[in-house]
Amino acid sequence: MAGTARRPLLVLLLVAGFAAVAESKLYAPADRVLLNCGSTTDALDSDGRRWVADTNDNMWLTDSGKSSLMMAADRMDNGLPSTVPYMTSRVFPTESAYNITVNPRDRHWVRLHFYPSSYNGLPAEGFRFDVVTSTGITLLHNFSVYNYAKALSQAFVIREFSLPPTPAGFLTITFTPTPPGNETYAFVNGIEVISMPDIFADPATTVGFADQTVDISGAALQTMYRFNVGGLYIPPSNDSGLTRHWYDDTPYVLGPTQGVIYKAGPHFQLKYLSDLAEYAAPPDVYLGSRSMGSDPRLNQNYNLTWVMPVDGNFTYVARLHFCELLLNRPNQRAFDIYVNNKTAQADADIIGMASEKGVPMYRDFAVYVADEPGDEAMWVALHPSVALRPQFYDAILNGLEVFKINDTAGNLAAPDPDPSRLLAKAELGAGDHMPPKIHRHRHIATVMGSMAGGAAALGIIAALCVVRRQEKGKKELQPAGGSHTSGWLPLYHSHTSGKSSGHLAANLAGMCRHFSFAEIKVATKNFSESLVIGVGGFGKVYRGVVDGDTKVAIKRSNPSSEQGVQEFQTEVEMLSKLRHRHLVSLIGFSEDAGEMILVYDYMEHGTLREHLYMGGKPPLSWRLRLDICIGAARGLHYLHTGAKYTIIHRDVKTTNILVDEDWVAKVSDFGLSKSGPTTVNQTHVSTMVKGSFGYLDPEYFRRQQLTDKSDVYSFGVVLFEVLLARPALDPALPREKVSLADYALLCQRNGTLLDVIDPAIKDQIAPECLKKFADTAEKCLSEQGIERPSMGDVLWNLEFAMQLQDAFEGQGGSTICGRRPMGEGSGVGGSSALDGNVMSSTASVTAVETLSASRPRVVIVEEADDDEVANSAAFSQLVRPTGR
Ligand SMILES: *[C@@H]1O[C@H](CO)[C@@H](O)[C@H](O)[C@H]1NC(C)=O
Ligand SMILES: *[C@@H]1O[C@H](CO)[C@@H](O)[C@H](O)[C@H]1NC(C)=O
Ligand SMILES: *[C@@H]1O[C@H](CO)[C@@H](O)[C@H](O)[C@H]1NC(C)=O
Ligand SMILES: *[C@@H]1O[C@H](CO)[C@@H](O)[C@H](O)[C@H]1NC(C)=O
Ligand SMILES: *[C@@H]1O[C@H](CO)[C@@H](O)[C@H](O)[C@H]1NC(C)=O
Ligand SMILES: *[C@@H]1O[C@H](CO)[C@@H](O)[C@H](O)[C@H]1NC(C)=O
Ligand SMILES: *[C@@H]1O[C@H](CO)[C@@H](O)[C@H](O)[C@H]1NC(C)=O
Ligand SMILES: *[C@@H]1O[C@H](CO)[C@@H](O)[C@H](O)[C@H]1NC(C)=O
Repeated sequence: MAGTARRPLLVLLLVAGFAAVAESKLYAPADRVLLNCGSTTDALDSDGRRWVADTNDNMWLTDSGKSSLMMAADRMDNGLPSTVPYMTSRVFPTESAYNITVNPRDRHWVRLHFYPSSYNGLPAEGFRFDVVTSTGITLLHNFSVYNYAKALSQAFVIREFSLPPTPAGFLTITFTPTPPGNETYAFVNGIEVISMPDIFADPATTVGFADQTVDISGAALQTMYRFNVGGLYIPPSNDSGLTRHWYDDTPYVLGPTQGVIYKAGPHFQLKYLSDLAEYAAPPDVYLGSRSMGSDPRLNQNYNLTWVMPVDGNFTYVARLHFCELLLNRPNQRAFDIYVNNKTAQADADIIGMASEKGVPMYRDFAVYVADEPGDEAMWVALHPSVALRPQFYDAILNGLEVFKINDTAGNLAAPDPDPSRLLAKAELGAGDHMPPKIHRHRHIATVMGSMAGGAAALGIIAALCVVRRQEKGKKELQPAGGSHTSGWLPLYHSHTSGKSSGHLAANLAGMCRHFSFAEIKVATKNFSESLVIGVGGFGKVYRGVVDGDTKVAIKRSNPSSEQGVQEFQTEVEMLSKLRHRHLVSLIGFSEDAGEMILVYDYMEHGTLREHLYMGGKPPLSWRLRLDICIGAARGLHYLHTGAKYTIIHRDVKTTNILVDEDWVAKVSDFGLSKSGPTTVNQTHVSTMVKGSFGYLDPEYFRRQQLTDKSDVYSFGVVLFEVLLARPALDPALPREKVSLADYALLCQRNGTLLDVIDPAIKDQIAPECLKKFADTAEKCLSEQGIERPSMGDVLWNLEFAMQLQDAFEGQGGSTICGRRPMGEGSGVGGSSALDGNVMSSTASVTAVETLSASRPRVVIVEEADDDEVANSAAFSQLVRPTGR
């Protein structure tokens, strides 16, 4: 998608060989009791934490516990993280209590661990009970672990509570079977009582009433959710001594657009403002983030949203953790925070609040969730602040926690869990405190781990990013009629200062056409909203018609955007000089009426990618694919050699190859990131990110020198993408298949390529043609740039492949030597798949949704280690003079 590459914010990076970053300060709890209930021996769990037998000298169990029973679970579920403390339990036929001495000044975590199994033949369904504390807090009421875990398909249940200081100096936790005296029992497998720092001392802002707060310092809280947003699971042993579980948030991000993940580099230093701030979350939480994405148009049209089912009739506190990792100045990234569809904070600007980069901070927002059966959920949504007109239309979050506050009766238990309601919630894909999702984050963790390993093996300083963006969402976000918005949009923010200068017209006279403002207004039906095909920081883009029937895309600059007239002009001049059948071109401009407006070719068929996979489009024939590749190769060849300067595209990929109504391929998004020191200084970020991983030249990473052979490498990936019809990176696949470049090379070298090519074209390809095509792609992917063919060689080879195909089909130029007319879209005739095969849009959308739900798209980009490197000549050297 246009703009992705040069809008660094959108991309997320994970540096291979990522070292422990900030030294985290370890909290040393005064009280630290981990009871292995129903066991006579102390033991370590899989996380290395020691659990002590609850039988020790009857230190913990009160007299009432004497009637309790020690039982072993009858079976072991594969989903258990550890046998300790889950495989043994203490079972209570009557009301019984643990009595634990505690430091009266400390807040305490109380965690109850349950494994719903049958114990010594007692059925799991037979356990139903209340749990209350001596401080009058009801933790669980009429609770059936069995129903609960079953509804959520959890193997085990952890309930975490934070209790305010207990002046009495002891805490009793009482288990009572419900209803008492009948064939029900209470049980527990593990109990933790651990001192914690007072991280709830500050009041929470009331959502919807920014001037009101809720005091939570004396409240008992139940942890509902705790996410390392954009990061991996963090186990209790890695949590700065606070022993919390931090889960991956991905399953709770509302599709279709899930934003992008960013991870700070290995030398990034966090700057804590206080000790307490250090305990709010471990460094890893702050060192990674999820943001919206690189496309300001998309960002303006959606909310980055987390949806977390909760129990109704309670007040909740949402704690949002922030840390700006990239930007330095106020109003570069500002956004609105919504909680449950109400404004929790408008115009949040992390730099504005924290004063500088790398300062961890959090905000608490309190909201009451009413009792609306089946519908209770916490919605946390972020949206770029339009009012502030920040430099980047983006939003960011590093960590997220949701706590339930006790009601006025000291109750934290949801009333009588109803299995069918829980089931409904489970289908929503959510659960209380998350263990059911653990397998998902493990999966993702594995994928990311293996990818990082691969990158390291290549010697690449690279970052991984997971972008989940489903095609359906893209569609929804596109205003009426835009079958494609992507690809051709220039990335820079153009600008009009309001006092437009007439010199632009003078300088550009003869280079491209000047449109009057009146013409533009007619073309866009007076900037009709229904013709908007894209929105961004630079302004809106409209579909339009000029000269009666020429379709164009018209970009109207946003008067408030930053870039100066000078740059605007430079860009226009450069663009207007690049004219080629296989490059998307600028048709003209208008600068009347104090507006700067650019007019481009309109690309009827959108991007190449959407015709390959996940676009819900009928498959393209092999001939047409090959023809598009030839066209794109020709466009790139022209960029490299045809203009006055060698222009390195830097972001060759299938979304930057557009197709017009005649199926002529056009390279878009070229040449724009260079042009002038102002762009480079504007923000180091924009020079840090260069292209989407998966397509990135490994040598470019190693040597940080950009050459035209980097484009050749990326184009090799495109060729295999066309052949296999799968993304350049697909983390949902087994490790060896994740990277298309690696996988295709492996298959090519093993001679198994035929088995993995797109089934839709398998029968159409001439064997010799396939061989030529694959050999060419393989050469493009050579490790060393010097071994890769030039774009001209690639072009020649692809044309030769087309001739082999022609010969095989006995049509067209029937002799191998007969050259086809240059640049003619001759593949159209073979594209029977395109004819009469238009799926109903509903059907295709559904298919896409299903497919992409399980397959996050991963884009990896590289992060420069520091600003110096980013600004070094190697990075700004997009355009360099050649000897021609
Ligand atoms: C719990 O222990 C404390 C002393 O540590 C004692 O005063 C209190 O009575 C005990 N409570 C129960 C219910 O046994
Ligand atoms: C406990 O839950 C069960 C099953 O939902 C219900 O039948 C029973 O009435 C509840 N008892 C109390 C005391 O709430
Ligand atoms: C136990 O259950 C029986 C019926 O199953 C009921 O008659 C009795 O009242 C219950 N006892 C208590 C103490 O709730
Ligand atoms: C926990 O921390 C250790 C040491 O810092 C590190 O090696 C390990 O990978 C971490 N584990 C996880 C799951 O983050
Ligand atoms: C927020 O809005 C969405 C869609 O507009 C709706 O589905 C959801 O139920 C709302 N959430 C709350 C908590 O009101
Ligand atoms: C974002 O969420 C807020 C609050 O629910 C809503 O008012 C707004 O319309 C949403 N914006 C978009 C683009 O969905
Ligand atoms: C909501 O909670 C209050 C106690 O805070 C309770 O009195 C009331 O009955 C509850 N309402 C519902 C509908 O559960
Ligand atoms: C929580 O419970 C305590 C003790 O029962 C009570 O004093 C406090 O008001 C409750 N908190 C809230 C927010 O209702």
